Amino acid sequence: MIATDEKDINGLKAAGKVCAQAMQLMMASVKPGMTTLELDQIGEDFLNKQGAKSAPRVMYEFPGGTCISVSPVIAHGIPGSHVIQDGELINIDVSAELNGYFGDTGASMVVGTSTPEYEKLLEATKAALAAVLSVVRAGKPLNLIGKTVQQEASKHGYNPIFDLTGHGIGRQLHDKPSAVYNFHKPEDRRILENGLVLAIEPFLTTGQGHVVEKMDGWSLKTVDSTIAAQFEHTVIITKGEPIILTLP
Ligand code: CO
Ligand code: CO
Repeated sequence: MIATDEKDINGLKAAGKVCAQAMQLMMASVKPGMTTLELDQIGEDFLNKQGAKSAPRVMYEFPGGTCISVSPVIAHGIPGSHVIQDGELINIDVSAELNGYFGDTGASMVVGTSTPEYEKLLEATKAALAAVLSVVRAGKPLNLIGKTVQQEASKHGYNPIFDLTGHGIGRQLHDKPSAVYNFHKPEDRRILENGLVLAIEPFLTTGQGHVVEKMDGWSLKTVDSTIAAQFEHTVIITKGEPIILTLP
């Protein structure tokens, strides 16, 4: 959606904040020995208490309140009986609807003891998101997003995940524009419009950059079982710095 008036911007900010707070709470609560279902319930209970609804559950009948992906799964992981282990790389993605507006945020993290390999990937992926936020402006080409993600990835010796994209968002979880690529597509002529609401979500991997769906019909894992990370914010494009909506 295009959000330029105060009412829409405030509605989007409120929805984004609830998502960010739920994710922050989940990241602070996760510990080894907990199941991904228990972690999910912490997040969804929080959303419900704030009057928000899990977007994947409501929109797509996803079997969970949030997406919790345990490496090498990197997206749409179903919360369930998996017992989280010390040293596991996980991704938490929270999207929700509040008063008719949607927010979407995600982050990867290591539970407990980390390794230099994981930390390097996490830092590079965070840096890719920050780099995108520093260049997106109304009037610039939309493919600047993918170009920037790919540049950041290769700077650190990684690939973006070519199959996973950001998206428009607003009054629905997935809105126009679809397919906000995480790699450079020179033939993409779309322009970033003032007020455009976007979920920007770079995915970086040590592998070749493709995913396959698991038998559960949801979980997307790296095709070569390599590690991957994602960080996501919902933002409003402006003539200046974008407004980051998914802040706690
Ligand atoms: Co998300
Ligand atoms: Co998203």
